[in-house]
Amino acid sequence: MKKVLVLLGSPRKKGNSAILAERIARGATSAGAKVETVFLHGLDIKPCTGCYRCQKPGARGCVIKDDMQAIYKSMKEADAWVIASPVYWFNMSAQIKLWMDRCLAFTTYAKDSFSGRRIAIAMSYGGDDPFDSGCVNALRTFQDAYSYVGSKIVGMVYGSAMESGAIRSNEALMAAAEKLGKKLAGEE
Ligand SMILES: Cc1cc2nc3c(=O)[nH]c(=O)nc-3n(C[C@H](O)[C@H](O)[C@H](O)COP(=O)(O)O)c2cc1C
Repeated sequence: MKKVLVLLGSPRKKGNSAILAERIARGATSAGAKVETVFLHGLDIKPCTGCYRCQKPGARGCVIKDDMQAIYKSMKEADAWVIASPVYWFNMSAQIKLWMDRCLAFTTYAKDSFSGRRIAIAMSYGGDDPFDSGCVNALRTFQDAYSYVGSKIVGMVYGSAMESGAIRSNEALMAAAEKLGKKLAGEE
């Protein structure tokens, strides 16, 4: 059975990006996957200190002992990750950026943790489109980062919605999210 880890990067637990991620998760579940969801906001995730100890020969991961340790474990166990973020100031949320920086440790002690990993991205923004909202900046960052480490972005869903929950009215987007979930849990 495939395992999918959903990382929620908005402080709004039931906000638009979380709703999109939930729909991806529903698609993955219907395709037989098991889903674990982590709400990053409020967890103890310290910023990367740039000590590079995770990059030293024989290193066994990040030396910072906080809630990321459990997340590393879940990340390793999952076949696929769903990264959900609102656009904050023309980019991803700080919660997702904190998590992402700490993933540097994955580039050495667990070399295989990135390569071949399947990733879906879910984003929401208040602007009119992916360009004027700044969503493209985050999407481009994900593309660059995951191509660099050899992971595969299976698909991205994103749309405009300001108030919490407003994304639900975009039925085409919700359907696309569910389809992406099925694809994520599939073989290709
Ligand atoms: C601090 C902050 C910064 C924001 N910056 C942007 C932005 O740069 N571009 C944009 O289109 N929307 C911006 N928004 C609006 C959110 O992206 C929008 O409400 C989104 O749907 C929130 O997703 P969520 O419900 O998952 O939290 C911002 C909202 C907040 C609170």
